[in-house]
Amino acid sequence: MLLEGKVGIVTGAGMGMGAAVARRWAREGARVIATDVDDEAGHATVEAIAAAGGDARFIPADAASEDDWRAVTAHAASELGGLHVLHNNAAIHFWFDSLNDPLERWDQMMAVNLRGVYLGCRFAIPRMIEAGGGAIVNTSSVSALHGVPLQGLYGATKAGVINLTRSLARAYGPQGVRVNAICPGTIDTPMLRTAAAEAAELNAEGDQPPSAAGGGVGPTLDGGRMGTADEIASVVTFLVSDEASYVSGVYLPVDGAMMA
Ligand SMILES: NC(=O)c1ccc[n+]([C@@H]2O[C@H](COP(=O)([O-])OP(=O)(O)OC[C@H]3O[C@@H](n4cnc5c(N)ncnc54)[C@H](O)[C@@H]3O)[C@@H](O)[C@H]2O)c1
Repeated sequence: MLLEGKVGIVTGAGMGMGAAVARRWAREGARVIATDVDDEAGHATVEAIAAAGGDARFIPADAASEDDWRAVTAHAASELGGLHVLHNNAAIHFWFDSLNDPLERWDQMMAVNLRGVYLGCRFAIPRMIEAGGGAIVNTSSVSALHGVPLQGLYGATKAGVINLTRSLARAYGPQGVRVNAICPGTIDTPMLRTAAAEAAELNAEGDQPPSAAGGGVGPTLDGGRMGTADEIASVVTFLVSDEASYVSGVYLPVDGAMMA
């Protein structure tokens, strides 16, 4: 098992990719702390893990909250003996008209998608150093790698995640902490389905939305099929495992060649 003896935190573990990563980490022998703002979904994830014989607990926590991060990382140290791996997965998405939408919306997404990832790193890295080393995967997006109309905000948060990742990888590598990012393409999750439905609505209203589903930017693997949350979980698990012990500071597209 790839994560035997490790303690890990997965944010946004109630559904989508976070749920898949939490399940995979538990199968690989980790003791998992699943966090989410959706209590029902978070509980469902840990119940499914327990039913499969895994070790997980749900802690309701907002990735944008400093107090919540303090509590979750303290729990890892005091109740589970340390912290070794973290997946900063939680994020929100909405289409954003850069010239007309309220500034509060900008602040709201930045608070979760970029500041939230930063807070996770800020609180986790000292715990990982205490534990003798660790590994973090931050979730960016292909939206960080090219321009998408109505994703100036989302893409900016995700581009910020990449540079934060690279800087922290260089800063804390010497103390045994690896930090990598993934850039998922179109992955079949509740977020993607909502974004696609909202894009269709915008289309119907005559606005010029981006293509939200099915790739939309050229040929992809298998003719543009969507990826699955489990395919993301495989990559995230590899990156935090010792199999990737010399991989740090990368931002890896997991997109079926969408950005190739
Ligand atoms: N689905 C895609 O195609 C796609 C593509 C590229 C990147 N991503 C990124 O992948 C990650 C996972 O996306 P997904 O598609 O699984 O999303 P999802 O919306 O299906 O699931 C996200 C989970 O995060 C939780 N969450 C939201 N805000 C939170 C907060 N402040 N604190 C804690 N939990 C919170 C939600 O309740 C939900 O359970 C996100 O970072 C997303 O931006 C998704």
